[in-house]
Amino acid sequence: MSSVNEIRTAFLEFFAQRGHEILPSSPLVPRNDPTLMFTNAGMVQFKNVFTGIEKRPYSRAATAQKCVRAGGKHNDLDNVGYTARHHTFFEMLGNFSFGDYFKADAIEFAWTLITEVLGLTKDRLLVTVYHDDDEAFDLWKKIAGFSDSKIIRISTSDNFWSMGDTGPCGPCSEIFFDQGEKLFGGPPGSADQDGDRYLEFWNLVFMQYEQLGPGERVALPRPSIDTGMGIERIAALLQGATSNYDIDLMRALILAVAAATSVDPDGPQKASHRVIADHLRASAFLVADGVLPSNEGRGYVLRRIMRRAMRHAQLLGAKEPLMWRLVLVLVREMGTAYPELVRAEALIVETLRLE
Ligand code: GLY
Repeated sequence: MSSVNEIRTAFLEFFAQRGHEILPSSPLVPRNDPTLMFTNAGMVQFKNVFTGIEKRPYSRAATAQKCVRAGGKHNDLDNVGYTARHHTFFEMLGNFSFGDYFKADAIEFAWTLITEVLGLTKDRLLVTVYHDDDEAFDLWKKIAGFSDSKIIRISTSDNFWSMGDTGPCGPCSEIFFDQGEKLFGGPPGSADQDGDRYLEFWNLVFMQYEQLGPGERVALPRPSIDTGMGIERIAALLQGATSNYDIDLMRALILAVAAATSVDPDGPQKASHRVIADHLRASAFLVADGVLPSNEGRGYVLRRIMRRAMRHAQLLGAKEPLMWRLVLVLVREMGTAYPELVRAEALIVETLRLE
C-alpha cells in the first residue's frame, strides 16, 4: 500500500529527478492577491511567474500545495461529508513549467509517473482533451498508445481551467481511472459522468492565456504548464479505496472521531465523521496560516467550517467540545510534511476550544 506520505514523497522525487525545484506549499492565504479568498490550487503561488510579472531563478517547479475550496469560485463546503470526493481542505500535487517544457513533456512525465512509478494499470486509464486540442490528442495517442476512444474531446469549461474570474488559464487534459462496473457512472462527457466509476485524478493545464476580465483574454508571454493531482484521489486509487475518506490519512482522523464519540464510523452517521475529519484539517491549517474565526471575510468562512464540524459533533452525541482533542492525531499524520502545523499546535487547540 502507498500511504499519503509515501505518494507525496514519490511525486516530488520524480520531478526533482527531472530538473524541478521542489518548493514548499505556499500559505492558504494568498500573498498580495485580493482576487482570491484562499489558495485553491498549486499554481496560485506562481500566478505572477506565469504572467511574466515575476522572474524566478528556475523554470520548473513541483509542490505539494495546501488548498481550501470553501468560498469564491471553487466552493465545495456544502457537499463535504456526503460524497466520496469533496473536501474543504485537500492537497494538490503539481509540476509547473514557466515557459520551459509544454504539452509533450507534461504528458510524457504524467504517463511515466502514473504507469511506471505508481503502477496504475494502463487498461484502466483514459483522458480528456479540450475539444479543439488536436495537439494534445495526438500526443496522448503517441505517448500512451491510446486508441481514439480513450481520448475524449470535451468542449465545456471542464477542459478549460481558470483560477478565478481573472488570472492565467488554458485548455486542459484530465486523466481518469476506470474503477470498474462495481461503481455507477459513465465516462467523461456521457450523461452519467458524475457517477463515481470514472475518477478524474490529475489535471494537466496548458497555460496559454491570461483572463483580464469578462471577455478579455490575452496570450501569456510563454506557454507554460500547471498540473494538479489530488493526493487524496490518487491515494484512494492506489489503496483500492472507493472513497477518499477511506485512505490511510482520513481513516486515522475518522477513527479518532469514532474513539472520542463511541459512534460507529461506518454506520448511519458516517457523514458526520467525514465532515469532522475534513473540517478539522481545514480549520487547523487555516489557523496555522494566520486566519482566526471572525464575522467577516476569511475568518467568517473559517467560523462556518468550524461550526459545521461542531454541529456534526453534536449529532454524534458529543456534549463537550470535541475538535480540539483531535488536533494531536492530525499533527501526528501531517506534521512532518507541514511543520507549520506543529508550530501552531497550541494555537489551533486553543482556537478550536474557544470557538
Ligand atoms: N490548476 C489545476 C487544477 O486545479 O486542476
